[in-house]
Amino acid sequence: MKKQGTISRLLQYVKPYKSWLVISMVCMVIVASMAGAQAYLVKPLLDEIFFNKDGTMLKLIPLVIMGVFLVKGLFSYSYNYLLQKVGQSIIRDLRNLLYSHIQSLPLSFFQKKPTGELISRILSDVNLIQGAVSNVLVGILKDTCQVIFLIGVIFYQDWRMASIAMISLPLVIYPIVNFGRRHRRLSRGSQQTTAQVSNILYETITGNRIVKAFSMEKYEVSRFAKTLDELFAIVMRNTRIGAISSPLMEVLGGVGISLVVWYGGSQVLADKSTPGTFFSFLTALIMIYQPIKGVSAINNSLQQGIAAAERVFDVLDIQSDVAEKKDAIELPLIKDAIEFTNARFQYDEDTEVLKGINLKVKAGEVLAVVGTSGGGKSTLVNLIPRFYDVSSGSLTIDGTDIRDVTFKSLRDQVGVVTQQTILFNDTVRNNIAYGSLDASEEQIKDAARAAHALGFIQNMPKGFDTVIGESGARLSGGERQRISIARAILKNAPILILDEATSSLDTESEHEVQQAIENLVQSRTTIVIAHRLSTIRNADRIVVIQAGEIVEEGTHDTLLPLGGVYKMLHDMQFQNDAMELKDTE
Ligand SMILES: Nc1ncnc2c1ncn2[C@@H]1O[C@H](COP(=O)(O)OP(=O)(O)OP(=O)(O)O)[C@@H](O)[C@H]1O
Ligand SMILES: [Mg+2]
Repeated sequence: MKKQGTISRLLQYVKPYKSWLVISMVCMVIVASMAGAQAYLVKPLLDEIFFNKDGTMLKLIPLVIMGVFLVKGLFSYSYNYLLQKVGQSIIRDLRNLLYSHIQSLPLSFFQKKPTGELISRILSDVNLIQGAVSNVLVGILKDTCQVIFLIGVIFYQDWRMASIAMISLPLVIYPIVNFGRRHRRLSRGSQQTTAQVSNILYETITGNRIVKAFSMEKYEVSRFAKTLDELFAIVMRNTRIGAISSPLMEVLGGVGISLVVWYGGSQVLADKSTPGTFFSFLTALIMIYQPIKGVSAINNSLQQGIAAAERVFDVLDIQSDVAEKKDAIELPLIKDAIEFTNARFQYDEDTEVLKGINLKVKAGEVLAVVGTSGGGKSTLVNLIPRFYDVSSGSLTIDGTDIRDVTFKSLRDQVGVVTQQTILFNDTVRNNIAYGSLDASEEQIKDAARAAHALGFIQNMPKGFDTVIGESGARLSGGERQRISIARAILKNAPILILDEATSSLDTESEHEVQQAIENLVQSRTTIVIAHRLSTIRNADRIVVIQAGEIVEEGTHDTLLPLGGVYKMLHDMQFQNDAMELKDTE
């Protein structure tokens, strides 16, 4: 009973707004009763004014009609307003919940789920849920109430004729139920395709440089068009089903009305009934079909909403595999060492990326990690701030397993400059102060200076207030790196991880940044992944990682004579550096 579960789960989100909903429902019952009154009034209108030619009624009835419309209008306004208020509140809550849940999920989740799809879930799916909640909760009640009041009127006016008219009712109900089921299936498909569209948009707009560079515009345009065609086909199939239910009901309703005209007319002709009764009856009957049709539309949006809710709940139900323990403790400031013991790690089941790492990084030490590409260097350092958890073995800081401490107390101690620099579309200042929101202007400036970024920042048109574009698109690679180094400097964390932090810098600015880093690493525990000789030379110790294992360990001077992997890497990568280094020395 997945459907039942989804609905009752949705109702949970309605709960906080129960009182608004109840008031809205009361308004709606009044609106419905006024609809009944409208139909009822046709009888005195015809019989008293037109047939009995009653003068007082001529004055009274128009006043009553005015009153009925006024009351109906007022309450219909309040009902619609409150209903929107409830629906929009639920949307806001669900979006907030979904977003904070997504933020709590581990990095691996973001590597599996395309960005555009997540955006689509937060925007488009949640929107459909709102439609379902507000339409269904009150819409169904409103329409059912109206139907009840109007059925009351027709039975009150003439129960025999009413029974005849009711014959066609079951015929009307059946298609509603049947169409609804198909509608839900198609809705799921259409939401999935919408997510795809959103994803293509996201990727090709943010990656437009590559699209252009490889002349893939035509290809992307046709890929987009193809997905839109799929969406079009699904929506049209859905429309066919949605659009046929209403005319079908009208035709069936027409059968009922014809029967009534035939039977009721004959009663009036035989003087067994009055024209007023007959027209009041007919008015009520015609008015009934409107809310019944409404029920069918509601059913459609309910089915859409359920499909969307299932997609939203799918994400909400993802359990974080890198989660904070309930009784997590605060990690004290590092004093002794970071220690990997037999640490193994795999991203997916088949391949092990780290194959039993034993490594102790003493507090205050500068450790350089080198190795062939894909060897597992970035993976190794990503374990320290718990972007991932070891598959087996352990990682401790001062003897405390990092899985036992709070994320905040761990991550507050780790400053990271990642291999891919990540900047936000915000000002230079806010990018540097990211994570150090209470930093003073002076501190930000000092950090920029230490990262050798002050010069180019001050040359920018608005200095620290310059907005740098999405992912720092308006900066050069080296400028981007220096801003992210400044960010790490400002954070002033006791553990520093630099993953190829200086790879995009030319030798001269690297030399400068190197000095900044040297200032930075003092009294800090630093792990630096590097391929530049100058960076490695200054390290206290070097480990060489190949295919997930530590194969060599030592210093530049002890490793080189071994003639092993380090020597090979050195000869391949560091030759140019060494030459440049000699020149500057
Ligand atoms: N998110 C991921 N999911 C699955 N496999 C991954 C993921 N990230 C990396 N890998 C794989 O893990 C291995 C180690 O990657 P890692 O990024 O740690 O290498 P690296 O030593 O940092 O290489 P480089 O010097 O090129 O940066 C590679 O084979 C890579 O394909
Ligand atoms: Mg790497």
